[in-house]
Amino acid sequence: MHTTKIAGVGHYVPENIVKNADLEMIMETSDAWIQERTGIKERRWVPQDSDDTPSVMGTKAARKAIADAGLEVTDIDFIVFATLSPDYYFPGPGVMVQEQLGLPEIGALDVRNQCSGFIYGLSVADQFIKTGMYKNILLIGSELHSGGLDKTTRGRGVSVIFGDGAGAVVLSRAQEGEGKIHTTKLHSEGKHAKELALLGPSTTNWVDAMIEAQDPEDLSYYPYMNGNFVFKHAVTRFQEVIHEALAELDKKPEDIDLLIPHQANLRISQFIQQKMGLRNDQVFNNIQKYGNTTAASIPIALSEAKAEGRIKPGQLLCLAAFGSGFTWGSSLIQF
Ligand SMILES: CC(C)(COP(=O)(O)OP(=O)(O)OC[C@H]1O[C@@H](n2cnc3c(N)ncnc32)[C@H](O)[C@@H]1OP(=O)(O)O)[C@@H](O)C(=O)NCCC(=O)NCCS
Repeated sequence: MHTTKIAGVGHYVPENIVKNADLEMIMETSDAWIQERTGIKERRWVPQDSDDTPSVMGTKAARKAIADAGLEVTDIDFIVFATLSPDYYFPGPGVMVQEQLGLPEIGALDVRNQCSGFIYGLSVADQFIKTGMYKNILLIGSELHSGGLDKTTRGRGVSVIFGDGAGAVVLSRAQEGEGKIHTTKLHSEGKHAKELALLGPSTTNWVDAMIEAQDPEDLSYYPYMNGNFVFKHAVTRFQEVIHEALAELDKKPEDIDLLIPHQANLRISQFIQQKMGLRNDQVFNNIQKYGNTTAASIPIALSEAKAEGRIKPGQLLCLAAFGSGFTWGSSLIQF
């Protein structure tokens, strides 16, 4: 059995910064409300006339991760792409990255696990490398939320939270003494599927029927979030799944060098930090700058944390996520 290391990291965010004050101009909200409830100061939103799409942003992040790994694009032998905001309903964006990178006809897998998508993708890629099937897998998390948000007062409970961006990692077969993905833990609870979801148009909510009904009350083409409900589940599940991974390795919270939680809400991260007794230097947050970028949030944070010198080779890194599905997961990695 082989082991998997994180060989390279990279991220890309669109240039266009949308501050809370900018949102005050288009909906009834305030910088104070957004910062107090979420910690977010600004986010990136792709302008409508931009060429950036989830796959294009993912490819930009991927090129940086491949360079960071000291590899050539042609060294990549499989692609995993996690997103809830694909370029198209189908095909998924993985194949577009294969095309944009000019890779030969390697496999490309799309992962649909929302905020936990990166951890699910990490787990899948880890299994492929462990078995020896692939050597260098490109794992991308990328989201373009802004095009699908209700940016009026009606949608403010959701739209102020989400941002656009992409992060990528190259996962490679490790040599003795190099980094290692120790474990990944994955969970789901589908009974809460509709508490954080975008339900239409879809195969159960037909476009034709929606157009015909012309129901102004039907907002199912916008994401719906039961914020309080999600918050309560998130704070519990994050802790559970981190402890589950730690227990497998016989480790304790104090052994974690850096926890990178999915950037859902700064208040969620702070709650977990406090409950687990972690110091400030043990937790990385950047939601203040980017909002919640769903599947992209962990790899963007990972890339920034590395660039800032917050993670060094040999350190114990913990990743954890919770989101729509509900799905949640964690990973313990020796960097
Ligand atoms: C979304 C969230 C910030 C809302 O905070 P909250 O304290 O639960 O706020 P509520 O939804 O109860 O709304 C409180 C009030 O603020 C108002 N409000 C909602 N969004 C607002 C906004 N952007 N600006 C100003 N006021 C807003 C509501 O209309 C409500 O007003 P009312 O009391 O007059 O009815 C919070 O629930 C949350 O972070 N949940 C988890 C979200 C998350 O992590 N999602 C991603 C999971 S991966």
